[in-house]
Amino acid sequence: MNLADGHYNETDHLAPLNPLRDPRDQRLPRIAGPSALILFGVTGDLSRKKVMPAIYDLANRGLLPPGFALVGFARRDWADQDFAEIVHDSVREHCRTPFREDTWRQLASGIRFVAGDLADAAAYESLKRTVAELDETRGTQGNHAFYLSIPPGMFPTVLEHLKSSGLAESGSPNSWRRVVIEKPFGRDLASAQKLNRLVDAVFPPGSVFRIDHYLGKETVQNILAVRFANMMFEPLWNANYVRNVQITMAEDIGIGGRAGYYDGIGAMRDVIQNHLLQLLALTAMEEPISFSADDVRAEKVKVLSAVTRPTSVEKHASRGQYAAGWQGGIPVKGFLEEDGISPHSRTETFAAIRLDVATRRWAGVPFYLRAGKRLGRRVTEVAIVFKNAPHLPFDSSSVQELSNNAFVFRIQPDEGITVRFGSKVPNTSSLQVRDVNMDFQYGDSFVDTSPEAYERLILDVLLGDPPLFPRHEEVELGWKILDPILDRWEEEGSPEQYASGGWGPPSAYEMIERDGNTWRRP
Ligand code: BG6
Repeated sequence: MNLADGHYNETDHLAPLNPLRDPRDQRLPRIAGPSALILFGVTGDLSRKKVMPAIYDLANRGLLPPGFALVGFARRDWADQDFAEIVHDSVREHCRTPFREDTWRQLASGIRFVAGDLADAAAYESLKRTVAELDETRGTQGNHAFYLSIPPGMFPTVLEHLKSSGLAESGSPNSWRRVVIEKPFGRDLASAQKLNRLVDAVFPPGSVFRIDHYLGKETVQNILAVRFANMMFEPLWNANYVRNVQITMAEDIGIGGRAGYYDGIGAMRDVIQNHLLQLLALTAMEEPISFSADDVRAEKVKVLSAVTRPTSVEKHASRGQYAAGWQGGIPVKGFLEEDGISPHSRTETFAAIRLDVATRRWAGVPFYLRAGKRLGRRVTEVAIVFKNAPHLPFDSSSVQELSNNAFVFRIQPDEGITVRFGSKVPNTSSLQVRDVNMDFQYGDSFVDTSPEAYERLILDVLLGDPPLFPRHEEVELGWKILDPILDRWEEEGSPEQYASGGWGPPSAYEMIERDGNTWRRP
């Protein structure tokens, strides 16, 4: 047991059962120590679909302590039991691991609800009494994580109340207080800096956990594993061999019931500023000296600092809005007809940009990033597209079906890696060459299914393990890169419309074709 940071290793727990296990063995996840998670924004989509089920899944995997407590805070006239029912329903509907009555009973016994307005000082006093009671009765030992799954406009109010009520301070070296912040972290550089100043005034930097759930995905972490555990890829990972890098995050869904969040935010702020720039950083960064939070972040910050701003927004950026149409044989509304969206909204539901990384490794290699809703299918991937072979000793007719070699991290949904290269077509008299794919599928090689990103991230918050959380430098660099494009878009008229079920507006194709490249069809 490590009293100083309030958690114990899984090895502590196993020690009496397995005295032969080396305590330095890191193969299995650690179990969180005594703690409570206080959830603000319990009625939102994210809480119901991701956070609550992830907490249950962690409990089911035996990774939460028996006395774990979950406290909901909202302006609802609910008793503990009512909130427990909400959690129960969300867990039943969205949990990844099987629903087990005994796990649920154990979790439910630590569920509390505090009714109150986010701006009401008295409600925080009542929250204080509740967490003190939990410290006494469930042994949560003063270890409290405040999870802010609330509209960003409410961050200042909640942070100020956490400070003035004393909830933000543990007052003892043996216990901790942490805050978890969901994106968006501001809407441009200036507002992100303001938010950071505000958070810094309440919590020390080591206690702030900014969630970018892409970093919690196994396939995203695998980018570092593949790049730095192997010999055969790294020699090719540079401008000598790479022609371009294409990072795609395509969703087939529209904005659903999220008009309130999405309108005024758009694809660039919603996912490119965070998820896609993180993917770029992991793909392009140099080898860190260790996988500690500081060392990995140092390399990410270096590469993000080397990203140059597009010289021409017209040529190097594209945006669009999905139009009404058909998707998968079903009629779908256009963005401007969605409930809660103004018919004059200029928010983009698709964005594509070309970025360059000014380093010796990447000089001259375009990084194309694109993200959108209502595209052809749900897929996220990072594709490294290689240059042509300098010489092809074949008839031109024999290599008509050979394109560029590619190495593709398939982030989701079909998790794995594809390597595309040319191979001889059997039964042809000449040496006919055609593209073939070599596939690694997670499901074929590993028995365990991957945990949801939120399971990993919530566990890391409770353990106080920071490597998978972006620091404010990364957030600010993201805005520095994107602000000039967003500013220009602000001044311009409406985005182009694109067909639902397609792959974005014509300007996205023009953008890449101008460089002599083409989008990969994922
Ligand atoms: C979120 C965005 O960060 O990621 C959503 O706010 C998007 O708009 C979601 O739908 C997609 O997440 P995933 O894990 O399904 O790719």
